[in-house]
Amino acid sequence: MVLPKAGTSAAAPSGDDAIQMNFGLDQARALLCGSGGAVNMAAASVDRHVAAGAGAHTALVCIGRHEERRSVSYAELAEMSDRAAAMLRGLGTRPGDVVAVLLGRGLDLYVAALGAWKVGAVFCPLFTSFGPGPLRSRLELAGARVLIAAEGAYQRKVAAYRDALAGLEHVLVIPEGESCEDGLADFRALIAAAPPAGAPAVTAAADPAFLHFTSGTTGTPKGAVHGHGAVLSHLATGRQVFGLSPDDVYWCTAEPGWITSTAYGLVAPLVAGCTVVVDEAGFDPRRWYDILKDERVSVWYTTPTCIRMMMRFGAALARSYRTNSLRLAASVGEPLSADAAHWGERTLGVPFLDTWWQTETGAIAIANRPSGAKPGSMGLPLPGIEAAVVTRQGKGVAAAADGVGELALKADLPSLFTAYVGDPERTRAAFADGWYLTGDLVRRDEDGYFWFVGRADDMIKTAAQTVGPFELESALLEHPAVAEIGVVGRPDPLVREVPVAFVALNPGFEEGEALRAELLTFARQELGAAIAPRDIHFVETMPKTSTGKILRRELKARAASEPADESGVVPPCPGHFDDE
Ligand code: PRX
Repeated sequence: MVLPKAGTSAAAPSGDDAIQMNFGLDQARALLCGSGGAVNMAAASVDRHVAAGAGAHTALVCIGRHEERRSVSYAELAEMSDRAAAMLRGLGTRPGDVVAVLLGRGLDLYVAALGAWKVGAVFCPLFTSFGPGPLRSRLELAGARVLIAAEGAYQRKVAAYRDALAGLEHVLVIPEGESCEDGLADFRALIAAAPPAGAPAVTAAADPAFLHFTSGTTGTPKGAVHGHGAVLSHLATGRQVFGLSPDDVYWCTAEPGWITSTAYGLVAPLVAGCTVVVDEAGFDPRRWYDILKDERVSVWYTTPTCIRMMMRFGAALARSYRTNSLRLAASVGEPLSADAAHWGERTLGVPFLDTWWQTETGAIAIANRPSGAKPGSMGLPLPGIEAAVVTRQGKGVAAAADGVGELALKADLPSLFTAYVGDPERTRAAFADGWYLTGDLVRRDEDGYFWFVGRADDMIKTAAQTVGPFELESALLEHPAVAEIGVVGRPDPLVREVPVAFVALNPGFEEGEALRAELLTFARQELGAAIAPRDIHFVETMPKTSTGKILRRELKARAASEPADESGVVPPCPGHFDDE
């Protein structure tokens, strides 16, 4: 295939034939946008392949927990999502309404997302590994009108406060047994009964398509809204970073709720016409090598934590599987250390590349490429993306003086979030002088490669998941024993950091093992095991600034001086473990 030249693209590096650095946003726009720039995520990702005659091509291969396997063609996926859209419309769902989804990886998740987009509604996936507290705050902030959930997860984590969710009109569930409980509607039965007809809603690039929550250092979680135009970035980056084409079998291990699952588990591979592997189960090294081998996966996208977990099971296990269809592997979410990248390359025999982006950027912005990769670095900005290292100065920004500073991106990316839902103040604070400020501290080397230094704030990174200390602290403050609390990340060799809490007690409560266990259980029930603090330290007084703010940095230093957990026990971590 001869590709048109891109106006904004850098020259393609030599090395990997599949990588298409010349395929930029202009090419994506030409392929995906209709008159007046209209673009719809579902039509672009699925329907257009059917219209082009590729309806019989396999879109999804869903592998169940007991390894039952179901293939779904592009034509079938188009029809299922048409029915889902008709069903949602029948319930009164209008463009701009939020459809929240509490489902694990699986066909229902894809049908729900695509159906929502076909109505012009906003898809808002939530982490099934979260407990009732974080789910409630997100559902409230999202103002969801429809919730589609696994029935068990709904009953355990939402039912108790459903009536307090003012805007929530419909709860559709995937029943655990033959039928669902009274008051709930069966998602699959409704879809089966819905008519297949109806063209997708005509949406503009800026119309909201998905809403993903990310944590803030203070205050409520931030709901980043992305427009339908993000699909342009997903198509372009899918080609530039992974070289995706319909010949690829592509597998992304991310858990729904994390933007990686929406952007690169769903949109990017489907818009490129790939076959997407969807594994419904959690992490299991043998199962994962089996999938790479048996499904003939060609491109694999995962996290550094997963690679470290695979490393623990040894290279010999990896080499006992013939994964020779694989041509590229990559990771996101936290730094991919040079040793992990090298291990991946040695054992899988393909380039193992770091990619950088965040919930707000909506798509990969910086990445290594097969030719010229610098292991340990985040890589180079993708074509058309302008990145800088800055310091904040008043309301503007200036170039960082000593080489290390905050990573800023020119705010002209179609995938960039358009707003934090209901929070114009924090939205404004994220931009200055036409730049989006990422909150990451980086350095750029003499060749232009970016190296991750740390966060500019107190966010905790655990198993590639970004966790805000404030949310964890607020949950534990609900316990009557807790007078003051500071939560920080303790370095961890496997998952990078684990959240640990420093707690000052109210009068009348005595520190000790029993209270520690009680607080840990309380936190796990409320927050979910994936993000709850792993340890509690009792303190007499909390270190504070002169203005009374808890000095998390000092707590962090204390936590870091503790011996790391070398037990080898793999902790629960989002994206890779089961719900409970
Ligand atoms: O701190 C950076 C880190 O993860 C943050 C974004 O997290 P989240 O919004 O949950 O989305 C992650 C997946 C899109 C970033 O601000 N991060 C992400 N990728 C890398 C990284 N840190 C270092 N190296 C990376 N490759």
